Amino acid sequence: MPAQRVTINDIREMKLRGEKIAMLTSYDYSTARIVDRAGIPIILVGDSLGMVVLGYENTLPVTMDVMIHHSRAVVRGTEHALIIGDMPFMTYHISVEDALRNAARFIQEAGTQAVKLEGGVTVADKVKRMVECGIPVMGHIGLTPQSVNQFGGHKVQGKSVEVAKRLLDDALALEQAGAFAVVLESVPARLAALITERVSIPTIGIGAGPGCDGQVQVINDLLGLFSEFVPKHAKQYAKLLDIMTKAIGEYQAEIKAGVFPTKEHSYIIDSAVLEELKAAK
Ligand code: KIV
Repeated sequence: MPAQRVTINDIREMKLRGEKIAMLTSYDYSTARIVDRAGIPIILVGDSLGMVVLGYENTLPVTMDVMIHHSRAVVRGTEHALIIGDMPFMTYHISVEDALRNAARFIQEAGTQAVKLEGGVTVADKVKRMVECGIPVMGHIGLTPQSVNQFGGHKVQGKSVEVAKRLLDDALALEQAGAFAVVLESVPARLAALITERVSIPTIGIGAGPGCDGQVQVINDLLGLFSEFVPKHAKQYAKLLDIMTKAIGEYQAEIKAGVFPTKEHSYIIDSAVLEELKAAK
């Protein structure tokens, strides 16, 4: 485990060495601590927290203040990973100045080392300015969830020549603007592999097949915290939903049966203090 935090140079070198990159989301102190200690080099404080932590239908209601609040907790819980703050909907669209101001909040107020934003050609001017000002940027193209209403749902992107060509142009525009990496979300595997070949920056896939330089998953999916809906691109490495439900059920049953708490979980008071208290009117 490196003594210092992972840097964007370390991530670039991983691509050059052909070493696959694992990235995972986290939204709170205690989870981020576990992820960091497990050796994951990049933690994304994703705006997916709007759905998996806050229960919204999509990521659109997430605000800068919410992202800063959660990013701070993740930064406090970690020592090694590169922490990326995800810029919410409409916080980098209005103007280059507005985008820069909001990106700077992640760095100054939350202590993240980088930011991520969705889009390619259309956000390249914002990416360029952030990078010029010393803010590392990760791009995100393909199924960009903040455009869910424009796409008409969470649909795979890049199946036609026209859209596939646009995605390749987006990846190249991000590279040109100085982004240090790019997320490819819900893109056909062979297209993602082609983009990975064509750009010098690492590609991080989610639903984009094994040809990317790295992979990212939403931690709640990976740990199996939901049963109602498991995205096609997600793999459950545990079923914490079952484990947590069982533990909570046992807790309630033990309280009802008078089995918990025991002496072991209780604090003691000196008998003399208690006697004096009882004797006092
Ligand atoms: O918000 C998020 O978690 C993301 C990842 C899925 C890439 O953007």
